[in-house]
Amino acid sequence: MAEHTFLRGPKDWWRQAVVYQIYPRSYADNNGDGIGDLKGITSRVPYLKELGVDAVWLSPFYPSELADGGYDVADYRNIDPRIGTLEEFDEMLEALHAVGIRVFVDVVPNHSSDQHEWFQAALKAPKGSPERDRYIFRDGKGENGEIRPSELASHFGPTGWTRITEPDGTPGQWYMHLFAKEQPDFNWDNQEVRDDFIKTMRFWSDRGVDGYRIDVAHALVKNLKEGHLPARTSFDLSAMKNDGTDDLFDRDEVHEIYKSWRQVYNEYDPPRVAVAEAWVHANRRARYASEEGLGQSFSFDLAFEPWNAKKFHDTISYNLAASEKTGSSNTWVFSNHDVIRHATRFGLDAESLSNLPKWFRSADRESKINKPLGLARARAATMLILALPGSTYLYQGEELGLQEPLNIPSDQMQDPQWFRSEGSISRDGCRVPMPWTSTGSSFGFGPGGSHLPQPEWFKDVNVQKQDGVAGSTLELYRTALMLRKGLVCAEKLTWNKHWFNSNVLDFTRPNGWRSVTNFGNRSIKLPKGKVLLSSGPLDGNRLPGNTTVWLQG
Ligand code: NOJ
Ligand code: CA
Repeated sequence: MAEHTFLRGPKDWWRQAVVYQIYPRSYADNNGDGIGDLKGITSRVPYLKELGVDAVWLSPFYPSELADGGYDVADYRNIDPRIGTLEEFDEMLEALHAVGIRVFVDVVPNHSSDQHEWFQAALKAPKGSPERDRYIFRDGKGENGEIRPSELASHFGPTGWTRITEPDGTPGQWYMHLFAKEQPDFNWDNQEVRDDFIKTMRFWSDRGVDGYRIDVAHALVKNLKEGHLPARTSFDLSAMKNDGTDDLFDRDEVHEIYKSWRQVYNEYDPPRVAVAEAWVHANRRARYASEEGLGQSFSFDLAFEPWNAKKFHDTISYNLAASEKTGSSNTWVFSNHDVIRHATRFGLDAESLSNLPKWFRSADRESKINKPLGLARARAATMLILALPGSTYLYQGEELGLQEPLNIPSDQMQDPQWFRSEGSISRDGCRVPMPWTSTGSSFGFGPGGSHLPQPEWFKDVNVQKQDGVAGSTLELYRTALMLRKGLVCAEKLTWNKHWFNSNVLDFTRPNGWRSVTNFGNRSIKLPKGKVLLSSGPLDGNRLPGNTTVWLQG
């Protein structure tokens, strides 16, 4: 196998990149309508440059009725007029490229919006028509087709089938949707669907987009052979086969699609890259990240681990070994638009952590967070992953050490997961618009309001408050990213053992860059080496608990 020790070659820029996720509707609102927009992002390019990220990934900005925060796309080759125009997209791209920041866009191929022209055409067309064949329409069971075709749940509620009314007004066929009913699943056995996504990839690649984040990358191909309909009542990983023959997810055939995308990506210079969001058994993740496939696949393992040195060690080792086998690059993630912010998660007591929905629904949930501890651990954790081989995905606002806003009244929630699924947590908290200033309308998010309510404490946690302030989380991120640029080296590490203290995670990269994290509460003696940066204050020659230090050995 080829030796994969790329540094920062023009072709392989992404292998060890720091990618910053922007949720466009919640980043910066230029025209004051309460919704973040592309012009807002362009206005923050100097901020992103100073932060020192290598790339940004934009969550969907396409026309959408927002049944699922934009992951219900009505037109894959356009911009939601509330967010901007294609010209404004080009301006944003140019401004980011001008300061050396690459751009990933989100592609949502498993399902479209029910407002997509193809779905609207399918509703108008008769049963068995080519229009219906682009989606998954089936007859219901029962005498009058009134019983859904199979026992299939959706991620956002009890049923994955919705019945339509036929053009003549009679109750009609059912269509499959693994998410909200406004998100009909495409039929990937249909060649037109395949061709259309190739067109979409070319459309954005021609504009200069550098990479793609592929939504639900493991679900596109389903077992839809004649007379067979997938059924599933739980989406737990344990319910999914891990040999490539599951009815709904991670089927081997899905890789033929990614192979065809890879051919398109390789027509460009540098080749475009993609990162899969694939919730599959860990042993099958690397297939998505192969050189013949997308290039990268998110590992969310650490986003669910408690603050524990051994668990971190084992997860990191597993991921490193898996990527070495295939030559793919690792990805490390703690926060994104779907999960509780990690500064909050790391501050939760063990009981709350073991059942997040229960914690989220408890009236005294705020009192169960130790915020200073959560923040200290979040800072330490981020420094740890920034030192690992591979690329790190950051989520807007984590560079401020933001806690999860928990102030959103249920009647202002937007997340379908919240109101369609019993026992869930809402993802709206992590999508609350960014605080840029201590005062002013929507804390500098924009001159108007904010589409989700911001908490009062944003006055103390925002960019203005932390800018230039030594020790602030923003300055920690800036320094860490700046140092990292000079430190990143071959994608390898060596663990340094601490035989008498199981709370320490300590490793060295081939160029002597050493990262030591103290997961415990008691300080330990600082190993030898020049201190480059620490996630919190050091105590003389001791490393306090819940702190990471970078050393040059
Ligand atoms: C994963 C996205 O991250 C999430 O926000 C969305 O709800 C689902 N995919 C469905 O598109
Ligand atoms: Ca706006």
